[in-house]
Formats: sequence, C-alpha cells, structure tokens
Amino acid sequence: MAAVVILAAGQGTRMKSSTAKVLHRIGGRSLLGHAIAAGKFLNPTHLAVVVRHERDQVAAEARALHPPAVIADQDDVPGTGRAAQCALIALDEVVSTNVTGPIAVISGDVPLLDGQTLAWLLDAHRAEGNAVTLLTTMLDDATGYGRVVRAADDSVTAIVEHRDASDAQREIREINSGTYIFDAAILRAGLSAATRDNNQGEMYLTDVIAHARAAGLRVGAVVTEDQMLVAGVNDRVQLAALGRELNRRIVKEWMRAGVTVVDPATTWIDVDVDLEADATLLPGTQLHGATSIAAGAIIGPDTTLTDTEVGAGAAVTRTQALLAVIGEGATVGPFTYLRPGTTLGAGGKIGGFVEVKNAQIDAGAKVPHLSYVGDATIGEGANLGAGTIVANYDGVKKHRTHVGVQARVGSDNVLVAPVTIGDGAYTAAGSVITEDVAPGALGIGRARQTQLPDWVAKNRADTEAASAATAQKGATGGQAAIPGTSVDSAANPSED
Ligand code: UD1
Ligand code: CA
Repeated sequence: MAAVVILAAGQGTRMKSSTAKVLHRIGGRSLLGHAIAAGKFLNPTHLAVVVRHERDQVAAEARALHPPAVIADQDDVPGTGRAAQCALIALDEVVSTNVTGPIAVISGDVPLLDGQTLAWLLDAHRAEGNAVTLLTTMLDDATGYGRVVRAADDSVTAIVEHRDASDAQREIREINSGTYIFDAAILRAGLSAATRDNNQGEMYLTDVIAHARAAGLRVGAVVTEDQMLVAGVNDRVQLAALGRELNRRIVKEWMRAGVTVVDPATTWIDVDVDLEADATLLPGTQLHGATSIAAGAIIGPDTTLTDTEVGAGAAVTRTQALLAVIGEGATVGPFTYLRPGTTLGAGGKIGGFVEVKNAQIDAGAKVPHLSYVGDATIGEGANLGAGTIVANYDGVKKHRTHVGVQARVGSDNVLVAPVTIGDGAYTAAGSVITEDVAPGALGIGRARQTQLPDWVAKNRADTEAASAATAQKGATGGQAAIPGTSVDSAANPSED
C-alpha cells in the first residue's frame, strides 16, 4: 500500500464550533482519529492529512495520533480535488519522486468507516485491475451527494455532484461515499486535467473518474448496504447519531465476546476499552479511555470509569473513577469518587461516600464509609473508621500519611499529614492525630468528656427533655444510669 490520504481541510461551518470539526469526538476518539485508525489498518508506507481550516489544531492531532503523518497544507484553491492534489505534492516531496501504486483517499469526517472495509476496497481494486475503485451506497434521499453514473453495462462512467446533476441524474440513488482507492499515476494525471468549471467553482476529486474512463481505464465500485459506515458528520445532530451508532456496534461486539450488558442503550464503551468475557456491565455504565475490566467483575449501575483498571471479580457500584486501579475481588461504592493515583489492593474495600486520591490502599484494607483519603498509603488489612479524613494539605503543600498493616483508625478521625500510624496500632474515635502512633499503641487525640449533673433541670426546666430526664431518674431510683455509658471504650473503629 503506497499511501493513505485523509481530507480534513474543510471548514465544518455547521458545527458552529471553535474546535475543528474533525477534532470533535465519538467513542473516545476524534473524528480524525477514527479516519487515521482506518487508514493505518492498511499499513500504508505514508499517511497524509490535508489541513487548512483550524490548521494547527488538526495538524497537532494528526501528529499526536500518528507521528510520521505527512501534513499537507491546502492552498486557497477550494475543493476535494485540490485537497488530494496538495497531498500528492506533499507525498512526492517526502519520497523525492512521484509516488506510485494504490492511494486510498478518505474523508476526515466519516468516523464509522473501518479499516476492514478499506482493505476490502483495496482487494477489489487489485483483483479487478482498476484505475479507481470507489465505495458507494444506496440512499432513499440522495440530495446533496455526488451521484454514481453507470453505463448500460453497469460500469461506472462518472460521478456528478448534486448541484451539477440533471433532473434525470438526480433520480439516481447510488451515491459516492467519498472513499476511494486511486492508482497514484491516474490520480495525478486526472487532477492535472481537472478544472473548476462547475457549479461550485471547486476542483472536484470526482472528476478523476471521468478522466480515467476517457483514458480507457477501468473504474470499479463496491456497494455497501451499511449506510452508517459511510455517513459523514456535518453538524452536532449527526455527531450524536453516529456516536450512538458507533457505541451500539461496540457494545454488540463485546456482548458477542462474552460480556454481559444488561442495558445496551445506557451503556457507553469507548473504542480503546478492553473487557474480558464474563464481565458484567449494569445499566448506566460508561467506560472511557484505556479502561480495562477483568473477568467476573461487575460494574454499575451508574458508574463512569476513565483510564481505570478493574481486577477479576471486583464490584464497582455507582462510582466515578479516573486513573484508578481496583484489585481483584475488591469492592467500591456506592457513591464513591476515585481520583488519579488510587490503587486498591485485592479484596480491599472503598465504600460509600468516600473520595480517594493518590493513595495506595493495600490488599484487604478497608475505607468503608464517608472518608477522604489523599496522598496516603493504607497497609494491608487496615481499617479506617467511618468519617476518617486525611488532612493532606496544609494550604501550601501536600503531605503524606501512612497507616500501617492491620491498623485500626477510629471513627471520625482527622489524620493530619505528615503522620504515620504504626502496624497494628489503634486510634481512638474522634481523634485528631497530629503525631505518629507507634506500632501496637493506641493514639488518643481528643478532649476528655466532662459532665454537669442536672444541667437540664437547672437550665431547661419545664421542657420535654427535663421531664424525660426526671422520669428516667425516678425509674432508676435517682441514679443516672444511662444505658451504654461506662468505661473508656476509647477505640471504636467501625468494622462493617
Ligand atoms: C464529496 C464528493 C461527493 C460525495 C460526498 C460524500 C466531491 C467533489 N464530492 O462532496 O461526490 O458524495 O463527498 O460525502 O468530492 N475537503 C478538503 N478540502 C476542500 C474541500 C473538502 O479537504 O477544499 C475535505 C473535507 O474536509 C471533507 C471531505 O473533503 O473531509 C469531503 O468534503 P465535503 O465538502 O463534505 O464534500 P462534498 O464536496 O460535499
Ligand atoms: Ca460531506
């Protein structure tokens, strides 16, 4: 394969966006990224992207996704023909001779066109010995598209743009999808001969077809029934429609590969996500970026994971996570926020209303309820009581906190970083821990409770509280035996 040319110089006015049309995204990838992925499937020696509008944005995306991409700048001559010609000039410069062999030309705004379809088009091109092979489809309403004109023997003789077409030609339902394989020499010759003598005053790439026929060469067409495959994006309504269709295809493929998807309509999976068979996705699950889900894991409902790795058999419920790693058999959620740098070891737990950032929570450790854990390591089997807050930020700098193996942090603790709680240590409920706690010690960092007897009777006489107190005191012979008060049950880690 000599080269792939992606046309991406058009304006995209109808997007009404300061972002170039081809940089809008579906399935976690820009439209240009989809075109580049399809093109790369052919293993071309060169891949050129033609740019003009929002040139720098588009060129940067092309280079980011495919560093060796040849960036071809289109000048102010308008039209797809000129765009292809600018690509040829740039390619000839790169190889310092005239490029020869087949060249695939595709549009930057047709995101569902896949590499396999291009490969079939190339196969047909070679097998039939064509000068040009185009991908076409049948539309009920072909308004706006170039029509495929065929001779009596069914061979393609020309493509006529809608605005240049006769009434009879406008009846033709077969349209040019804008996806082609050209023999490089024919493309070069056809474009040299092309004029701007048409309704739009543009140089038409499609004129190369009539040129090839006039030279006695063969033009082939592969007709696809899959209209979405060749559908372009011109506005945000089409962007959403193609985004949904792409997702439908991705979800279907994963189901065929053994993933349970309870509700395909509300499950969104980006193109680069990786799933193992027997993963289960519950309704409202969105998997973005390079997320991977291992076998037996259950994700959702209502969970959004971005660039997150979930181990086998883990359960992640109503969670938002970015750049997190969730270990085998671990549980997360509900209502849990995992920020970059969170790792949860095998069998660990991050429970409800917990936020974690840049923290390593080792195997079997638990942060079950209502906590913030940032810039910390939590040792194997440790337990943070409900409402534990790691105060990692002094207003200027972030500091680290270490909680040892099998440590038990009491409920409603503030661990003021930098601080270390030793292996097997406990802290008392309600503590503000500002100093290190030695292994096996109990750290208590709270004011002692004092009591003012009969305060209510003296200060809140004639209230319901006062009568309740009087009643209980009467029943217990005047002794204030309040259930549950006793000794110093200082450590009060919450366990489940
Ligand atoms: C083109 C085809 C038409 C086909 C239709 C399919 C021509 C003359 N017509 O129509 O037969 O049915 O695609 O969608 O080719 N572009 C440039 N530079 C330009 C103009 C366009 O790079 O000067 C790029 C656009 O960014 C886009 C692609 O070429 O990626 C197609 O452009 P578009 O304007 O959509 O094509 P049409 O001329 O409408
Ligand atoms: Ca178009």
